[in-house]
Amino acid sequence: MRDIRPEDTALFQSVEKGFREVARRFGYGQIRTPHLEATDLFVRTVGETTDIVEKEMYSLETKGGDRLSLRPENTAGVVRAYLEHGLHRTAPLQRLFYCGEMFRHESAQKKRFREFTQAGIECFGSPHPEADAEVVAFACEVFRELGLGDVRVELSTFGCPACRPPFRQALREYFAAASDRLCAECKRRLEKNVFRLLDCKEESCRAIADAAPRIELDDECSCHFDATKRMLDAMGCTYVENPRLVRGLDYYTRTIFEVFPAGGSGRQDALCGGGRYDALSELLGGPPVPAVGFAMGVDRIVMALKGGQSSSAGPDVFIVTEATDAGPSRSMGGQLALALRRAGLSVVTDILRKKFPDKQLKDAAKAGARLVVIAGGDELTSGEAIIKDMNTGEQSTAAMAPIDTFVSAVRKALALPQEKESAS
Ligand code: HAM
Repeated sequence: MRDIRPEDTALFQSVEKGFREVARRFGYGQIRTPHLEATDLFVRTVGETTDIVEKEMYSLETKGGDRLSLRPENTAGVVRAYLEHGLHRTAPLQRLFYCGEMFRHESAQKKRFREFTQAGIECFGSPHPEADAEVVAFACEVFRELGLGDVRVELSTFGCPACRPPFRQALREYFAAASDRLCAECKRRLEKNVFRLLDCKEESCRAIADAAPRIELDDECSCHFDATKRMLDAMGCTYVENPRLVRGLDYYTRTIFEVFPAGGSGRQDALCGGGRYDALSELLGGPPVPAVGFAMGVDRIVMALKGGQSSSAGPDVFIVTEATDAGPSRSMGGQLALALRRAGLSVVTDILRKKFPDKQLKDAAKAGARLVVIAGGDELTSGEAIIKDMNTGEQSTAAMAPIDTFVSAVRKALALPQEKESAS
């Protein structure tokens, strides 16, 4: 687990902001669920034999004897909440999004964190491929919004409970024939849940899994997948089909997908993963509720963005004033700063009494300020502050009173639209 410093926090926030904006455009409302849930919820849904449940959960027992876990993912919690609040009875079609911390005790590696942030959606109530296409398109729009439009979307289908038994049988026979080359865990999983062998992270097992038989879809699953792809094609969402795609959670039926950074090679650096999970509600004692969703790893997206842009944006304005005591220049600086902040700008003033103006100008450059406003003794006498554009070096002056006019001059220097006058 790690600390996120302010320069990175700014990027986290911009990713979350972009995600929320896309959620608004798609008509999704936010749900917030607890970080702690009953351990059993994850065992039943994510799957007893998955890495997440077998090795990665932070679990505890309360003094009252309840077994709880820090959520390793949020689909299970959102389904629980959906059922607990009776949404399946009142408004079965629900478009929900969330953004929050998840916890997995994974082996420490680049891009794998033990506390990480996921932004995700869950769309409940539609069994139709339109919902699958909406969810994949939503994910693509988030990446587009964030300027990461050249990601690689991998799409596949895991069939339904009706087309699984022959697939399961074929896999059992295939892996049993190679059992002497499988890792100890896979040998055990061969009996318990053969699908998990497709997801083993051991190199030797992966090589065997790569050549494993593929699922044969029944007519309904095949039609569903074709219609999903047709809709994505029509929307111009590009994807590649990857019949070898496997998800690390047991609850999926039909459509599954993952999103990778363009040019990324590893399977471990997925930026997003999701799919349909029509059987999850019943597994938790609810009625049948078709559902589809995804979650994206905000930490990994921040890392991808960091390659391309500077991680911290400086303030709009740095105000430089004379540092002798808290005299009139300083007071004027305080007034100007507050007026500009109230107009929505980010403004920093010198509070270390650094030398006027050189040291303060240096600090302004270091902070990455776009504009500097100089309001020293001379400026106080003339009534006009100096405005300096830190990118071009251009200078102009602006009267400090009336203050609204000054604010307009600064907004203009920042090429921001002027605020409308409030209707009287
Ligand atoms: P997941 O594939 O386990 O799916 O996780 C989704 C995304 O979370 C991954 O693609 C990755 O970007 C990020 N992630 C996972 N583990 C870590 C980690 N240790 N460090 C950093 N990022 C990580 C789910 O969690 C499903 N609940 C998604 C879903 C929603 N399916 C349907 N609805």
